[in-house]
Amino acid sequence: QTTLGDAAAAQGRYFGVAVAAGRLGEPDYTATLNREFNSVTAENSWKWESLQPSPGYFDFSTADRIAEHARQQGMELRGHTLVWHSQLPGWVENIGSADELRAVMNNHITTVMEHYKGQVRSWDVVNEAFADGGSGARRDSVFQRLLGDGWIEEAFRTARAADPDATLCYNDYNTDAWNTAKTQAVYNMVADFVSRGVPIDCVGFQAHFNSGNPVPENYHVTLQNFADLGVEVQITELDIAGWGDSQAQQYAGVTLACLAVPQCSGITVWGVTDKYSWRAEDTPLLFDGDYNPKQAYHAVLETL
Ligand code: XIL
Repeated sequence: QTTLGDAAAAQGRYFGVAVAAGRLGEPDYTATLNREFNSVTAENSWKWESLQPSPGYFDFSTADRIAEHARQQGMELRGHTLVWHSQLPGWVENIGSADELRAVMNNHITTVMEHYKGQVRSWDVVNEAFADGGSGARRDSVFQRLLGDGWIEEAFRTARAADPDATLCYNDYNTDAWNTAKTQAVYNMVADFVSRGVPIDCVGFQAHFNSGNPVPENYHVTLQNFADLGVEVQITELDIAGWGDSQAQQYAGVTLACLAVPQCSGITVWGVTDKYSWRAEDTPLLFDGDYNPKQAYHAVLETL
């Protein structure tokens, strides 16, 4: 019998999972993590509010436990996330001057990336900068308000300078179906960056699915269209509400979509077990609350 990580590796890809540092002491959690996965994302502990809770005060203690676990297990790391409107400390949201915010943003990116330099395969440099709905507009945030549209490009340039070897990703959700305003807006930004030489290497698709937002029929078309711009694509936070056959089929569909696109380098599911999922009531993951592999697990493994 094989595992998700080994099966993905045989396809030249990784199979990752979001990890909560506080669970690493639970033997059944860690056994499943270590057995099945070969890439790790910190579910919360690499976010701005955790790493720089007050101005200039960086605390890597919890974040480093995840990096150390990955290192010991020979797992890759995805860095999530440098600049995001959410889980952002109040002191940043309350900055009033563009010059100060620009300096603070660049300092955060540089300090965090240099701390983990050489250890992180891919970074979510900017997360969720576009609004939902039909406008295709940028989401309101302190970065957008004070710095204008140029803030995303500035973040990527700063990130490239901090760790030139890391794969730099733009990450978002509701960008899975091709013909929506949000997908098109992100696509246009990436196309513009590529054409002007702004350093972007990858687009991350969070892929949080439920009955109102199912896996699109032609998901691979969206992934391939982005890849055709010259960037890698990654499924970064996969979870799918449901159970049984229907959930398993949707998981198989996402797996097939990634395999159909040569530039799709890997899949990360957003948690090890349903019981600790941020959407636990949706039972959206591959292992149940007792760490038994679900139908969805077998469907992914057979598809890989
Ligand atoms: C979620 C975590 O899973 C929760 O534990 C936390 O309370 C909120 O954030 N998009 C992202 C992730 O980029 O960072 C979010 O993670 C889920 C949505």
